[in-house]
Amino acid sequence: MNQVIIACDFKNKEELNKFLLPFEGLNPFLKIGMEIFYKEGPELVKDLTNRGFHIFLDLKLHDIPNTVEKAMRNIASLNVDITNVHAAGGIKMMEAAKRGLEGSNTKLIAVTILTSLNDEMLKNELDIEKTVNDVVYDYASNAKKAGLDGIVCSPLEAPIAKELGLISVTPGIRLAGDAKGDQSRVTTPSDAKNLGSTYIVVGRSITGALDPVAAYKKCMEDFN
Ligand code: C5P
Repeated sequence: MNQVIIACDFKNKEELNKFLLPFEGLNPFLKIGMEIFYKEGPELVKDLTNRGFHIFLDLKLHDIPNTVEKAMRNIASLNVDITNVHAAGGIKMMEAAKRGLEGSNTKLIAVTILTSLNDEMLKNELDIEKTVNDVVYDYASNAKKAGLDGIVCSPLEAPIAKELGLISVTPGIRLAGDAKGDQSRVTTPSDAKNLGSTYIVVGRSITGALDPVAAYKKCMEDFN
């Protein structure tokens, strides 16, 4: 079964637990990101894994290799399913991150280019002349060289991961008719499926829906 990961971008654990109530029995895969992690800390992650949730801990580490390795050692003890770094930190940093996770079952993936960025922003703001697609290919190749399991990218770039034998975790998903918000490169769950995404990450299309459980089920249906 293809997995839909719900991006739990909530202010605090009270809001998250309230959101999760109607999901009782559905056992969704959750993405815990910076907003709630910086508020609630590792205790929240331990609580959720104890309750049986699968977790993608999306902290996007990006620092010198030594710091990232030590931070990953702490993440390793949380027993999450997936965590990540920025590929822009380089191959040595990604290798260090992997060393930090040794002894755990946590998969390590690398963020390539954020789905909120596009070719013009790369050129005008980040001084990168290559297209998003080319940079994703190069960063994904680096992630593979460093021994990582996969990449975070837009579903539009999922075929690159497939070609390289990597898993792809793809945000930038919208149900037909939903607002794009700050995302630039978006697709629907069924397009993501056809493009070969391994996991889709869906935030506002589920958390902001009038009926989040129905929106989640629709995403699961369309992605399978
Ligand atoms: O609400 P929405 O579906 O846009 O949420 C997407 C989630 O995926 C957010 O939590 C965002 O931080 C995350 N993400 C992303 N693009 C990446 C990596 C992570 O949008 N490249």
